[in-house]
Amino acid sequence: MCLTIPGRIKKIDGNFAILEGSFGLRKVNTMALGKVKIGDWLLATTGLAVKKINKDEAQELIKLLKGHNYVNNDKIDKKLLSILENARKRSLNRDEIIFLLNLRRREDVEALFLEADVIRKSYLKDFICIHGIIEFSNYCENNCSYCGLRFENKKLKRYRMSLKEIIGVIDNAVNKIGYKMLVLQSGVDKGWNDTKLIELIKLIKQKYRVFIFVSIGERSLKCYKEMKKAGADGILLRFETSNKELYQRLHFSKTLKGNFDKRLKLISDLKKNGYYISSGSIIGLPGQTIKDLANDVLMMKKMNVGMVSMGPFVPSENTLLGKEKEAEAILSLKMIAICRLLMKEARIPVTSALETIGGEEIRKKGLSCGANSLMFNLTPRKYRKDYKIYNNKFYGRNKKLERAALFQNEDSWRMIEQEFRKKI
Ligand code: 5AD
Repeated sequence: MCLTIPGRIKKIDGNFAILEGSFGLRKVNTMALGKVKIGDWLLATTGLAVKKINKDEAQELIKLLKGHNYVNNDKIDKKLLSILENARKRSLNRDEIIFLLNLRRREDVEALFLEADVIRKSYLKDFICIHGIIEFSNYCENNCSYCGLRFENKKLKRYRMSLKEIIGVIDNAVNKIGYKMLVLQSGVDKGWNDTKLIELIKLIKQKYRVFIFVSIGERSLKCYKEMKKAGADGILLRFETSNKELYQRLHFSKTLKGNFDKRLKLISDLKKNGYYISSGSIIGLPGQTIKDLANDVLMMKKMNVGMVSMGPFVPSENTLLGKEKEAEAILSLKMIAICRLLMKEARIPVTSALETIGGEEIRKKGLSCGANSLMFNLTPRKYRKDYKIYNNKFYGRNKKLERAALFQNEDSWRMIEQEFRKKI
């Protein structure tokens, strides 16, 4: 975990200070910071102050982490209240999830969001993680009907970053900015063949202290095993939808190697081989039902994913679904909240697709209805417009947040390490 909680010094006692913040009062050791005074804003992990910040930064974090307003239980649907109560004691079943996804009244939806927020807070405190994503190639030999990288999209200008370019980005991200978790993403690009990929991972892990997720689509298990040996930590590979029939329909082209069962088998094999798993679905795909979405949540739960990976469908020009309707943001927010009820300790990011349809506002909303992490884009500017999975991709990298989240601190390293170990 990376982002600590801001608090203001109320009292000082030797090397200790009493901080006041969203957690109430907390005693922290301030040795690492040198001289501090009453009124200073600090970031603190459990028991330890790690950084001084200015008032603006503190206010921004507080705003971001602020929970919802009070919800009046009398006005809330009774069945909803009993489902929320159940979620505290056990996992939810499909009918219960469908009920939550179908909530319409504002008070009810807010009650769901509040409950997810409370669960996130009580299990994970206000820690937020930031992952950096580097989209290193947009070549793809697959032809998924929703994705702008599909090989039949001849209008897309293709690029492939070199090893040197990728290392340049990583060097800056890890050594200058302080990223601890990076996602290396591309289409299924054989221009980056197995040997080159393995060499890349090896080099990164030799040179940098950083967790690496690979998000490169379906490759052979052999390649994934070698990457694991080279030091890769996690995979980000979505099952896209738990509805097999819909999956086959969206990936009908004979050029797509593999199918639904093969995708699930690969994810399961990767888990067995020690990868930290990030997987999930696209929300609001044409032809998808609410029941499908409930099954998606249950599938993530069954996979015991460390990180939930899902986002709304956003139409992409020059694809077969380019003229379809964009998913509604509220559906994605409900999915985030429901995932939090079922997977209390999972990493749940607000993904770029959601930010694309709702901007900075939705980022904040996502973080206050169950999400606890963000993905910032580190792809070099000159390539970004060509990594066009869907239209108008959002690139709001919030520098203040980044500065607050990405300090170098042994504690935060240990927390990530423990989390990874626990999930494998
Ligand atoms: N809308 C939303 N998500 C998409 N992806 C691909 N195309 C789209 C789209 N049009 C997602 C897929 C893929 C990930 C890299 O991007 O889920 O796994």
